[in-house]
Amino acid sequence: MFVLDVGCGNSPVGDVNCDLYSKDTEQHRSFDTANTAINSRNVPNFVVCSAEFLPFISACFDVAVSRQVIEHVAKPGLMASELVRVSRDLIIIETVHRRGERLEPRSRQAWFKQHHINKFDFTVFAALAQKLGCYTVKSDVLDKNYVLRFLGLKLLGVPMGIRVVWSKTVRDWYLYSGFKSRESYFASVGLTNIDK
Ligand SMILES: C[S@@+](CC[C@H](N)C(=O)[O-])C[C@H]1O[C@@H](n2cnc3c(N)ncnc32)[C@H](O)[C@@H]1O
Repeated sequence: MFVLDVGCGNSPVGDVNCDLYSKDTEQHRSFDTANTAINSRNVPNFVVCSAEFLPFISACFDVAVSRQVIEHVAKPGLMASELVRVSRDLIIIETVHRRGERLEPRSRQAWFKQHHINKFDFTVFAALAQKLGCYTVKSDVLDKNYVLRFLGLKLLGVPMGIRVVWSKTVRDWYLYSGFKSRESYFASVGLTNIDK
């Protein structure tokens, strides 16, 4: 699998990794910009570019992955269309859910308001996938925030971190591809750790 990580920051997972800000001048990674510069020597095949204008030819990666980035860009639809364009098949997008984000502590809300587009949920991604001609093959809640917390109890959980996996090629992928389960499909495309 040949993987592109878009908005890799300091935790790249791609064979090719890109980010618009090698120095965190816009504080997308942290308030403390002092230690968050990307050391390109530690990042395989680092490219400085915008997620909305990827400088790669169409379908040149097997997977385009982007984690906690789409909520930072001015035109998320344009970014999503670029991820779809450069991928041959799979697109993986992780972000924060609009409802979960609103339950973050007040101390973090100012930063969120300044840096995040608070609009994403599974419905938004389903509509976007349809518009871009992709099939949603997996949607996950990665973690939750809670409306009520007391005496160690957590009640009324709402999604915070979410992930969608789209395919450009396979609709009922586990039927048509001959795989018996989602897990074996993902194992076949090298994504065995995707749930961990
Ligand atoms: C919250 S960090 C996530 C970093 C990394 N993906 C991770 O999960 O640790 C958001 C990243 O998106 C990058 N970013 C923000 N706007 C961008 C854009 N228009 N194009 C590319 N990267 C962008 C920031 O520089 C930052 O590294």
